[in-house]
Amino acid sequence: MNILFFGTKSYDKQFFEELLKNGNYHDLEITFIEPNLSSETARLADGFEAVCAFVNMDLSEKTVRTLHKCGVKLILMRCAGFNNVDLDVAKECGMKIMRVPGYSPEAVAEHAMALVLTADRHMHKAYIKCRENNFNLAGLMGVNLYGKTAGIVGTGKIGAAMARICHGFGMRVIGYDMYPNKSLDFMEYVDFDHLLAEADLISLHCPLTEENYHLINKDTISKMKDGVMLVNTSRGALIKTDDLIQGIRDGKFFAVGLDVYEEETGTVYEDMSDRILEHSTMARLLSFPNVMVTSHQGFFTVEALEAISRTTLDNALAYVEGRESGNEL
Ligand code: NAI
Repeated sequence: MNILFFGTKSYDKQFFEELLKNGNYHDLEITFIEPNLSSETARLADGFEAVCAFVNMDLSEKTVRTLHKCGVKLILMRCAGFNNVDLDVAKECGMKIMRVPGYSPEAVAEHAMALVLTADRHMHKAYIKCRENNFNLAGLMGVNLYGKTAGIVGTGKIGAAMARICHGFGMRVIGYDMYPNKSLDFMEYVDFDHLLAEADLISLHCPLTEENYHLINKDTISKMKDGVMLVNTSRGALIKTDDLIQGIRDGKFFAVGLDVYEEETGTVYEDMSDRILEHSTMARLLSFPNVMVTSHQGFFTVEALEAISRTTLDNALAYVEGRESGNEL
């Protein structure tokens, strides 16, 4: 089966080629291209049976229909989230979609905690100050996590990994999820309002759905403790960014860590260093000293990339051999 691999970065090529060389994937042939998949680039897939796409790409109706016209039968998402894919249209066109559901929950959870610690203890500022021989501590004071309450929203694979990390820091851990995770015996499940009112650190780990779009907004922010820390490594649209900015300006948050944000499509994974940022909300977020922004990189560890490439190729092989891999959507 020939697969067109959209949005190739050097690290994608490195991990996929390594496996193609050494694994049992002789039935698969991959063509790597740099453009991201979108309604404009979808026609590049003409003649390919499958395409491989990532979290930052546009697989809305127009893209999926163009892929279908090109003869594509399989969409391999090399990521867990799929809120950027029009599943209904893909189904209507008879196309199969497969993904990588849980490649390394710890990679994302460890990044979430890195964001908390960086923003709380001002590592980003300390690094620059020390490099400039400024050993003064002004502006660097943080708060202890030990003894505080962590509120985990969504206690699936990544939320559970984050809960375990917080528990290891000596925090009380409370969680909100419609389906409590029985493996977390230290976790106290509470309702959402209760979590907002009690948590000193709120970490978002639920998938983005129609129901929880803008879950964090003016109203829910007003229910949080003053001086709360908020971390989002899940999906940008869980937070209404304008309301978050207002909350930050009002001094509600001690620290905010964002690996994902509403306007990330088109920006994330691109070098924009010689350009003017089009989006004013991103520019404003970057202007706050207690906000730490990273570029949707929670997944970005060696272990996660190995697992992503292996599962993606195993998904493709299962399709070729007419088997279910269990990762179909
Ligand atoms: P999962 O499916 O194992 O767990 C999600 C949990 O959220 C489930 O227990 C579900 O019941 C719960 N949930 C759903 N809606 C909810 C709501 N409204 N309120 C509270 N809980 C709710 O998913 P996993 O693997 O833990 O991933 C979570 C999310 O992390 C993904 O959907 C994706 O958006 C994001 N992610 C981010 C990455 C990054 O690089 N920053 C990488 C991978 C995933």
